[in-house]
Formats: sequence, structure tokens, C-alpha cells
Amino acid sequence: MDATACNPMSLVGRRVLVTGASSGIGRATAVLAAALGADVVLTGRRSEELERTRGLMARPDAHMAVAGDLKDAAFVDELAASAVDGGRLDGFVHAAGACTVVPVGVVSPAVLADSMSVGYGAFMLLMRRLTRKGSSNDGFSAVAVSSVSAEAGWPGGAPYAGSKGAVNAAVRALAVELAPRRIRVNAVCPSHIRTPLFESLTAGAGESAKAALAARQPLGLGDPEQVASAICFLLSGAASFVTGVCLPVDGGYLAQ
Ligand SMILES: NC(=O)c1ccc[n+]([C@@H]2O[C@H](COP(=O)([O-])OP(=O)(O)OC[C@H]3O[C@@H](n4cnc5c(N)ncnc54)[C@H](OP(=O)(O)O)[C@@H]3O)[C@@H](O)[C@H]2O)c1
Repeated sequence: MDATACNPMSLVGRRVLVTGASSGIGRATAVLAAALGADVVLTGRRSEELERTRGLMARPDAHMAVAGDLKDAAFVDELAASAVDGGRLDGFVHAAGACTVVPVGVVSPAVLADSMSVGYGAFMLLMRRLTRKGSSNDGFSAVAVSSVSAEAGWPGGAPYAGSKGAVNAAVRALAVELAPRRIRVNAVCPSHIRTPLFESLTAGAGESAKAALAARQPLGLGDPEQVASAICFLLSGAASFVTGVCLPVDGGYLAQ
């Protein structure tokens, strides 16, 4: 019996592109995908951190790192071309993103453009390139890392929440559009997860404020590996009948 038959979450023989692979949720996803057998194309702006991720992965030589800025449309094209150069892709995880807290009184066109460019814009541009005929194999699975912010508000969160709401809406539309080609498109929606992004957002808040955020989640703060597990499930054959889903990975945050 082969590994896939024993383990429906096996990614043996699959090529997966992971953005945001230099940190947090993207890094944990790249590491788990490699442990499940995938060959991974890693991207982020910081080459040294991509190499650090590669060092944490099973079979480091099986993976390729391509560094660049996803705000640059020319780099997005270059990344897609490099990713498919080594063979068609079977999966795409879009974990790259940032979060700025911006009260509505200081929202500007630049803030809005910035909020939409990486989490939503680069996701759409990469989907355009990766779903071209010849770029991806049958059963291609895309997973966007969205947020519970698409469903639950917080002060100063409107530009970020808007970009995540756009991702969720796009995931549903793409899932329907691409289903005839057996391409699946899903999102995961994390709540507060211990990553450098969370640490930077709460840096000045103090321990009691962090504890209050953790208490807001019935299962407490999450870890990137817990989000990576849900992402790898959606990438794998175990989720072959799952598409158009925006899956909360939130320790019960949205259940209240
Ligand atoms: N942590 C949470 O509590 C939480 C909750 C809900 C949703 N999320 C979402 O989860 C995703 C991952 O966040 P994280 O918490 O893992 O954050 P993180 O540790 O700060 O990682 C963010 C990643 O995005 C990459 N990135 C950011 N801007 C980029 C750009 N312009 N071009 C290319 N890559 C870029 C970063 O790489 P470089 O810096 O090397 O470019 C890094 O690898 C984000 O979409 C975030 O919105 C996080």
C-alpha cells in the first residue's frame, strides 16, 4: 500500500507554492507540507528567512526559494513562471499578508491600496497565472489565509477586514468558476495566532491586554502549526470534495 493510500493527507509527489513562507503561518505550512511529502516553492521578501525555513524542512534540497515583493506585479509574474518551471503545481497557499490598524479618520487612498495589494491583489494575480492551462495539474488546490476579521469587527480594522472579506468572496466565486476543471479553492480564517505579526500588533499592549485577547478565544491563543494542519488538510486528497469554504481556525472565537 503506498503512502497516499495509508494517509489521505499525504502530499507525496505534489508541488506546492507557499507565499509568506519566511515567517509565521506560511513557514509552519511549508514545514508541514514538506513533512507530508510535498516539494515546496517558498516565497517572501527576506531570502535569509526563506533559507531558515528551508533548513527546517524535510529534504531541504527538494525545495526552491524565490525572494521578492508581492506588491510588484512584475515579480508576481516572475514568481509564477519560476514556480511552474520545475513542473506543474498541485497546490498554492497564499499566507503572505500584513495588518495595519487604521482608524477610519485617517484612512487614505494609499492605506486602502496597501491593504488590498498583498492579501487580496497578489492572491488574484497568482490565481490567474497558476490556473492557466499547463501551469497546474488536475486536482489543483488553492488555499488563501484569510481571517476571522472578515466576519467580526474590531476598532481600526476596517481596511484589513475589507481585504479579508474580499478574499473570502473571491474564494467562493473562484471555487464555482473553477470546479468544472476540478480546481478547488478554499480559505482558512485564523483568529489570534502566536506569530511575529501578532507580536508586532500587541507589542505595546502589555501582558494583561494580551491575556484578554487570549481569553476571548475559548481555546486560547493559537499556534501557526495549528493553522498549517488545516491548510494541509485542504491541500490534500482528504479534502477532495471540499471547495468554496472559508474555514475558521479560531479556537472557537466565532462560535460565541
Ligand atoms: N497571526 C495572526 O494572529 C493572524 C490572524 C488572522 C489572519 N492572519 C493572516 O495570516 C497570514 C500570515 O500572517 P502571520 O501571522 O504568519 O504573519 P507573519 O509572521 O508576519 O508573516 C507574514 C508573511 O507575509 C510575507 N509578506 C508580507 N508582505 C509581503 C510582501 N509585500 N511581499 C511578499 N511577502 C510579504 C512576510 O514575508 P517577508 O517579510 O519576508 O516579506 C511573511 O512571510 C496573513 O495573511 C495574516 O493576515 C494572521
